Amino acid sequence: MLKERHLIDPMDLTIEETENLLELAENIYLNPEKYSKLCEGKILATLFYEPSTRTRLSFEAAMMRLGGKVIGFSEASFSSVSKGESIADTIRTISCYADVAVIRHPKEGAPKIASMYSSIPVVNAGDGGHQHPTQTLTDLMTIKSLKGSLSNLTVGFCGDLKFGRTVHSLIKSLSRYENNKMILISPEELKIPNYIRTEILEKNNIEYDERENLEEVIALLDILYMTRVQKERFFNEEDYIRLKDSYILDEEKIKKASKNMNILHPLPRVNEISYEIDKDPRACYFKQAEYGMYVRMALILKLLGVM
Ligand code: CP
Repeated sequence: MLKERHLIDPMDLTIEETENLLELAENIYLNPEKYSKLCEGKILATLFYEPSTRTRLSFEAAMMRLGGKVIGFSEASFSSVSKGESIADTIRTISCYADVAVIRHPKEGAPKIASMYSSIPVVNAGDGGHQHPTQTLTDLMTIKSLKGSLSNLTVGFCGDLKFGRTVHSLIKSLSRYENNKMILISPEELKIPNYIRTEILEKNNIEYDERENLEEVIALLDILYMTRVQKERFFNEEDYIRLKDSYILDEEKIKKASKNMNILHPLPRVNEISYEIDKDPRACYFKQAEYGMYVRMALILKLLGVM
């Protein structure tokens, strides 16, 4: 039962709970009308201390499409945080007004702290360079719809693997399925954090390879998960400028890929996928963004105990 629980890390969900959510999301996708009144009288709060397009608006659209209502703020300066209020006091207050809260915060661990003071379910909508569990549900729904399974896949993660929270969460989740291989493609300075290597990949005996050159490995991939270099996490603008265009996927580079390889990206993109790729049938990142709303509808229903 997910009722009244928090979702801070993708591992907060068992494999069975994850699969139940994906199945419900698919049912909602196929028959949205059936679910359109199930959250009447319920309120979702979106507390976004960092910018967002997809996560915030898909959560808000999800609640509205379930018949519920939405309150919240899209930047800290629009709330009493700007007067110095703590996240603990903010969530205690929001708990009196809403039935579920979705929090994005630049500080790693902030949604976890909020959950400790909350009397309503708290969902981590991205905390610094740490985790982004609902993006992972979106990614899993996309991969399952494309490949029919979450096992026996060779997945290439390319770009900013150091700060890319969507990468960290998806690696964790895919590591629970059988026979997945990960190819981690990044510049030396943007390699995955050591805890992902030791605590997730090595502990679970996941086959992985760390590379710098995308073209050398693109032919091996079932899924290519491209990511943006996370400008907002750099201490030094010169480093960002030097690294930001490390990978640009274009028509030339994709020639070596299998015709069955699918390209995912959590978005937003900057330069890392050329616009000419959008018309390639392997480009699935806008479908991925669409699925985001359906997995969030499923999650809201489960956290509120409606289904
Ligand atoms: N994928 C994702 O988290 O996008 P936003 O930053 O637009 O929410």
